[in-house]
Amino acid sequence: MKGLILSGGKGTRLRPLTYTSAKQLIPIANKPILHYGIEFMKDAGIKDIGIIVGDTRAEIMEQVGDGSMWGVNIEFIHQPEPLGLAHAVLTAEKYIGDDTFTMYLGDNLLRDGIAGIVKEYHERNPDCMILLTPVKNPSQFGVAELKEDGSVKKLVEKPAEPKSNLALVGVYLFNSLIFEAARKIKPSLRGELEITDAIQQLLDDGRDVHSAIVEGWWKDTGKLDDMLEANRLVLDTLEKNIEGNVDSASKVEGRVIIGPNSRIINSSIRGPVIIGRNVVIENAFIGPYTSIQDKCEISNCELEHSIILDESKIRDVPGRLSDCLIGRQVVVEKASIKPQATRLMLGDSSWVSLG
Ligand code: DAU
Repeated sequence: MKGLILSGGKGTRLRPLTYTSAKQLIPIANKPILHYGIEFMKDAGIKDIGIIVGDTRAEIMEQVGDGSMWGVNIEFIHQPEPLGLAHAVLTAEKYIGDDTFTMYLGDNLLRDGIAGIVKEYHERNPDCMILLTPVKNPSQFGVAELKEDGSVKKLVEKPAEPKSNLALVGVYLFNSLIFEAARKIKPSLRGELEITDAIQQLLDDGRDVHSAIVEGWWKDTGKLDDMLEANRLVLDTLEKNIEGNVDSASKVEGRVIIGPNSRIINSSIRGPVIIGRNVVIENAFIGPYTSIQDKCEISNCELEHSIILDESKIRDVPGRLSDCLIGRQVVVEKASIKPQATRLMLGDSSWVSLG
């Protein structure tokens, strides 16, 4: 079995970060989301992994390399335009050949990985296996309607009036019949070749489509709130590990990870929190569910429930910062010169919510 991770697309719901960076490289608990997918594949015994890439391919290729970091073989497959998940599958047809494959959406996270699912697929050997989970907002996903015996009746992509609350999770297992099905379908109203329609085509052709319910949590990290929630869920699973230096005036409580060469000075850190390498935290409070990447400086401020990317500086900010996703090399500070007005320099599609 091969692996196919989808890491193309535009990431419009995470602008402005996705103007300069691939959404699949935004870190959750200081690790790019895409790395979780690669690790899940490896843990499931999948060694040959194709990664679909689009406009952000240079950054992804540089970050991921040839897979030797994980002991797997990675090949990149360029999808010139994000014309849909089924289009991505067709783009990978040559790479997949006659193999079976697990397709994994590069912005998805599952608590339990995919090893159990891959095992179940091999035991039953259906033409396609999909994963479902109950959600509160089914019209934002592909939705499955099941028959009374639990088999799949119908699949619809983002229906206005969903027939069930069972969303399609971004992990699919296929044999090569999916290529024929993907070639039969037409683009949806949003102009994409939907994988949901291709699987419906398999059903219409009388193929064996098996579904399973995901037991642990699952997150599609396409939006800010989902990112913060995924960060929370992953931070809850990490163990305490302090490699950096904490001075005697500081207090560290709960599950906190502090990377090498980081310094905590006269500050309070309340876990779950992860702090990367070469970070300086001074006269600050870092509250639960915060991830701070490498080389950041946080001083004279309070921060919680947030994700801060590499080399950003937050200083002297009044009030508490919460629910933030802050990109790389960002500076947030209190004005030191008069007039002390709020001055902003923000990229396109930025979003500021002043307390
Ligand atoms: O997250 C689960 C949902 O994922 C399913 O419930 C839906 O049925 C499925 O269509 C998909 O919906 P999204 O609208 O969330 O898909 P999105 O456009 O975010 O793309 C998912 C991943 O695939 C993302 O990492 C980008 C990548 N992608 C997307 C497109 C459209 C590609 O590599 N190529 C593409 O053409």
